[in-house]
Amino acid sequence: MKERGQWGSRLAFVLAASGSAVGLGNLWKFPYLAWRFGMSEGGTGAGGFVFVYLLSVLLVGLPVMVAEIVIGRLGRRNPVGSFEVLRPKTKWKYVGVLGVVTGFLIMSYYCVVAGWSIEYVAKSIAWEFGGYDTFITDKEALQHVWEKEGKGESFEAFASKLQAKQDLETILRETKLQIFPERLFQDFISSPAKLVFYLFVLIALTALVVLGGIKKGIERWNKILMPALLLIMLILVARAVTLPKGGQALEALLYPDLSSVGFDTVLWALGQAFFSLSLGMGAMVTYGSYMRREDKITPSALMVSLVDTLIALCASFVIFSSIMSYNIQLKGGGIGNLFTAIPAIFIHMPMGRALCILFYFLVAFAALTSTVSLLEVVASYFIDQRGMDRRKSVILSSTGIFVLGVPCALSFNLLKDVTFFSKTFFDLLDFLCANIALPLGGIFLCIFAGFVLKHEEVKKELFELSSGAVLVWRFLVRFVAPAAIFCVFLGLIMGRISA
Ligand code: TRP
Repeated sequence: MKERGQWGSRLAFVLAASGSAVGLGNLWKFPYLAWRFGMSEGGTGAGGFVFVYLLSVLLVGLPVMVAEIVIGRLGRRNPVGSFEVLRPKTKWKYVGVLGVVTGFLIMSYYCVVAGWSIEYVAKSIAWEFGGYDTFITDKEALQHVWEKEGKGESFEAFASKLQAKQDLETILRETKLQIFPERLFQDFISSPAKLVFYLFVLIALTALVVLGGIKKGIERWNKILMPALLLIMLILVARAVTLPKGGQALEALLYPDLSSVGFDTVLWALGQAFFSLSLGMGAMVTYGSYMRREDKITPSALMVSLVDTLIALCASFVIFSSIMSYNIQLKGGGIGNLFTAIPAIFIHMPMGRALCILFYFLVAFAALTSTVSLLEVVASYFIDQRGMDRRKSVILSSTGIFVLGVPCALSFNLLKDVTFFSKTFFDLLDFLCANIALPLGGIFLCIFAGFVLKHEEVKKELFELSSGAVLVWRFLVRFVAPAAIFCVFLGLIMGRISA
């Protein structure tokens, strides 16, 4: 057997696992979903979604994470190999295979969004946001106000009335800010060439890292850049608190309006918990396989979940506060929240331009650390299980990912109207991966850890827990988590969930 690496300390594991967990899931998807479920179409608060999400993390995510790490540390292999070692000649290894396929699929649409952050680094350097005063002509802006407030008046009459009142200037200024960031974003994503180009860049960068050379470098950079992301997030939070609608934004994010919670909320919140914590496809099995025997699993898993959740909540608060304070009008369900709401804050901040460049650079970096972990799972499958050499495996997998990624990128422009079950290709893939494949993998991982592994095997790995605590975990993994996921699937099949 080849010599396997090991994390040098428990902290090293926590950092690496947090690096995989923290990514676009926290910065882009969680705030976007929270807004969509809580605030769009006259919603009064995202607290319901957030509350269900927190429950999902606590009752499902955390136990599954512990299960994955236990499996990895027992098997000491990649996900497929670990199942093979632990229960040879059984079908369990196909759970690992499902994970590899899911990783491949996630990577192909994840890289599209990751590419957006590179464009936004470029936009912040060129400071396109600074142009909001001149980007829209006065006529266009007036028209916008008229459409919203004109109520039956002719445009000319409305315009002359406003101009006479002399508050046109102020109205225009507000209006421009309202529509400018969203418009900038829409213009960008309607360019097929740009989106495909960035997709290519992102996959190529990931492939380069996974090919070997810079792997050591990336881990070292991780230790500097992730705390930097946290720091800039805190600056943004501090600013967001003091924005005019900061208090209201916090309330909108946290107030649990349970009346808006339905089956759909549970489906999406649960899926998001799996996605954000990197669960359900064996990423944590792989990371757990490098963990030292003497390190404690449960406190590490707790720490990772805590960090991941806090970052998602901070990002959402900042974005909510900006959207509400600057009254940004969102299109397309707010899929561009991370890209429209944040510049609005930086525009009005000292050193805003520099911080904005840094922020999107850090977003791109956080995304890159996640894509690296995804590609690594896929590539190492071909290497370990299919005997391919590393180069060939990486080239093969990234080519496949690019081929699948192109229609994802194009579903924001050329293929906008090509839908399956009223979802674009991008949305469909995201839905299938995050809401179906990951939770499904989660059920299998739970059954394996809860029923197939012997109590003694598990107890040895969770030595830090009292017998009672191990029983609580077993109960969650055997019954609560699979049942919760199963109910959601049942609701989906019976058409109770509109997806
Ligand atoms: N968790 C990452 C994020 O939030 C995405 C990710 C990386 C992931 N590796 C994964 C998701 C493995 C599921 C499985 O951005």
